[in-house]
Amino acid sequence: MPPSGRDATFIQDTYWMVLGRAATPAELADEQQGHLNRDQLTLLRGIMASAEFSRLRRAWRDGRETHTDPEAVERALTALGPSDLFIRRAYETILGRSPDEGGQRHYLAALAGGERRLNIIRGLAISDEFDRRWRSIPRDTQLCELANPAKWENEEWLDLLRSLGLSDDRLVMHRKPYEFTQLLFGCRRLGVLRDDAAFLSVGAGHEHVLYWLANHVRRVVATDMYEGVWQGERAREGDPAVLENPDQYAPFPYRRDHLEFMRMDGRSLKFADGTFDVSYSLSSIEHFGGFAGAAQTMREMARVLKPGGILALATEYVISGPPQEETFQPAEIHALLQASGLALVEPIDERVYQRYQSEPVDLADNPYRSPHMTVRLGETVFTSVMAFLRKV
Ligand SMILES: C[S@@+](CC[C@H](N)C(=O)[O-])C[C@H]1O[C@@H](n2cnc3c(N)ncnc32)[C@H](O)[C@@H]1O
Repeated sequence: MPPSGRDATFIQDTYWMVLGRAATPAELADEQQGHLNRDQLTLLRGIMASAEFSRLRRAWRDGRETHTDPEAVERALTALGPSDLFIRRAYETILGRSPDEGGQRHYLAALAGGERRLNIIRGLAISDEFDRRWRSIPRDTQLCELANPAKWENEEWLDLLRSLGLSDDRLVMHRKPYEFTQLLFGCRRLGVLRDDAAFLSVGAGHEHVLYWLANHVRRVVATDMYEGVWQGERAREGDPAVLENPDQYAPFPYRRDHLEFMRMDGRSLKFADGTFDVSYSLSSIEHFGGFAGAAQTMREMARVLKPGGILALATEYVISGPPQEETFQPAEIHALLQASGLALVEPIDERVYQRYQSEPVDLADNPYRSPHMTVRLGETVFTSVMAFLRKV
């Protein structure tokens, strides 16, 4: 018996039950490390919260096949022992409790009637009870904050990130996908991500999230100057070709008739007051002619909102160091928000990088390095700030 009290059989049984496969030799050795808890019932290292188990649960929920050889899984689950023991182990592993009498009876009858053991695992894994257990893991739900690594621990947020077709791998953590996902997360939490909503993006370029929104809300209007340096530099965000052919930048199929692109200066929006449920701008207003241009844009974005509408902003926030072109010092950020005349939905958490250790990406040296949450230009370190404001 290894020092942890976990024998190889217990570990393998649990791997089969949760992941439908045997533990690899590396996993087995890892799980047998002596410093884990001694009791067998404490779940094994990370498998319940693993990306692999989440992927299985998603596939089960969507009715997709989960295992290449379901028969082999069934044989391994059958080898775990008699039905009552299997049911008890399945409950303890997945729901973290012993089976109640009703549950035990129900599943015993199902197994006696020929139900597959894998289907019982599936039923428990996608049950409301497991879902509640999963959702009771404390998670960060802040909306107004500096680009926050904690969001990569929030499954609800990660589901939105994945639905954009973007990677959830923390090694490619980047403030751009953060901005897209946080925009959607915030709008959903604030009740404005509705299928009858109208969204305006300012300095939109051909950003990924526009196409996602086109599939989920009534109207998306993307505005941008589509001229000057942005036409050919960096990621060609200002490529005017998108005006004629939006499909060329579509990351996935989208509802063409819900998305329009318009050439327009964010400082002078050609829309009537109260037109949109949401006006947003991601990493753009810092390029609109300094503080004055950005402040004028904030006023315009507020003006075109309906009462109750949400203004969502991501821009460059200096964490430390001297002023740098196309970034804002914290006091300027607050002045910009004030210029909108709207109220923040909550105070901005500006202390994120007092909690997190982060190595800024040197934009002059290797701008494509990841993770990419904080960046440096000379002595100035900055990141994205995300703010949500409501029009009353
Ligand atoms: C860094 S890009 C961001 C694009 C997009 N929001 C994204 O996240 O991919 C900045 C964009 O602002 C646009 N832009 C610059 N000045 C503008 C102005 N006065 N009004 C509207 N858009 C402007 C540029 O053409 C460019 O597409």
